[in-house]
Amino acid sequence: TARFSLPDDADDSETRASQLSDGPLATFAPMSTIVVEGGPRLSGTIGVLGAKNAALKEMVATLLAPGRHHLSNVPAILDVDLMCRVLEHTGCKISKAANELWVVVPDEPEPEAPIELVRQMRASIVVLGPLLARCGVARVALPGGDDLGARPIEWHLDGLEQMGAVFELVHGELVGRVDGRLRGAEVELPFPSVGATENVLLAGVLAEGETRIVNAAREPEIEDLIAHLGTMGARIDGGGTSLITIEGVEELSPADHRVLPDRLAAGTFAVAGAISGGDVTVTSCHPGHLRMELLKLEEAGCEVGRGDGWLRVAGPDRPQAVDFATLPFPGFHTDMHPQMVALLAVASGTSLITENLYDARFRYVGELARMGADITVEAQHAVIRGVDRLSGCPVLAPDIRAGAALVIAGLRAEGTTEVGDASHIDRGYEDFVGRLASLGARVQRVEDLP
Ligand code: EPU
Repeated sequence: TARFSLPDDADDSETRASQLSDGPLATFAPMSTIVVEGGPRLSGTIGVLGAKNAALKEMVATLLAPGRHHLSNVPAILDVDLMCRVLEHTGCKISKAANELWVVVPDEPEPEAPIELVRQMRASIVVLGPLLARCGVARVALPGGDDLGARPIEWHLDGLEQMGAVFELVHGELVGRVDGRLRGAEVELPFPSVGATENVLLAGVLAEGETRIVNAAREPEIEDLIAHLGTMGARIDGGGTSLITIEGVEELSPADHRVLPDRLAAGTFAVAGAISGGDVTVTSCHPGHLRMELLKLEEAGCEVGRGDGWLRVAGPDRPQAVDFATLPFPGFHTDMHPQMVALLAVASGTSLITENLYDARFRYVGELARMGADITVEAQHAVIRGVDRLSGCPVLAPDIRAGAALVIAGLRAEGTTEVGDASHIDRGYEDFVGRLASLGARVQRVEDLP
């Protein structure tokens, strides 16, 4: 692509057959199916663990300081296992116990994230900033697209280039270099990208001088990452606002950090309760991180309660149609979109929703349609005409959140819904089946025959 300078010897002849043969999650997950019987109204209390999208970046942040780091409230999910492998590849030693993680970072990490890991988890790209800062070089496979569409990374690279890094593409691998130390810069993002904000932040903490991220993402997970970096000795202002200012320091030290609660797990259980017409309380969460999503559930006719560290959602017999558009925080989260559409599929009335973050997020709509949902998609909009009933059938989970949404739809459908490719759900939810069952869902997991 025009973005990179290709070295003279670059050609396509060097294939990496052994690496390319690994499909997504091939190494980890046996194929499995989640089987749901529709009907029961969920009730009870469920606690959530730490947020995937904070834990992954906080694991990467450990690369910034040699020594022994400790993270707690880490969810036991596939993506965390994958990030352990990314860190191990750089020479880190990792030990785990329940929801805790210890990472021992070497004095000289191996600055590389290979294709077989990056392909399975795009979030690996945030190692670029810390590896450049620590090692002056980073070799990271170009992630390419994924289940949610093209997902380019040019804003990550532009930001790091402004700080003195240069990149070239060598046989599908991005090779970044910096002469000496990264230099602070004013990086203005064209869009408040979560990953680009994090990469520049993780590079800026060890850069020379001040880095300003203008139009930074304001997600709570980034604020939590900033808190973590702060305990490591970083000097950062403006977390949770659109202007983050970082005063680079010479070195950081290992720290202890507790990952903030997963708002997406909390929101997913709330919608599960709502669609079943049940009454679910979620604890160990911050309802303030789900303001827009809870407002929309109220508009849909749910009774919503919130307090310090908990939220409660009681679903109506039949939800009402609502409109929403996904936006960066504090807007409606794109990762709550498919779950909410499952609810609106059985609402009275017609909902109009707009997806502003991903071009391929609607891939699950065809699966919901097999269950009887009446949804028309046009570009980034979907018109959802609520139907009286869904009927269970075999469907496939296309990604983490859509997978959860199909299971949720199954809670309301007549008969049995079988959600195949369920390993997608394991990437982001710890024991999703067990937790739904604890609320009274008739749900179980079946490992597919080889
Ligand atoms: N984008 C570009 N160029 C870039 C960077 C981003 O065009 O250089 C586009 C993306 O293609 C996308 C939009 O900007 O259309 C937003 O992407 P962003 O960079 O904000 O997302 P991300 O960092 O790749 C994280 C989460 C996603 C979540 C998004 C939005 C992690 C590991 N992933 O992705 O989470 O949807 O932010 O909030 O933090 C999930 O958990 O299921 C998940 C997909």
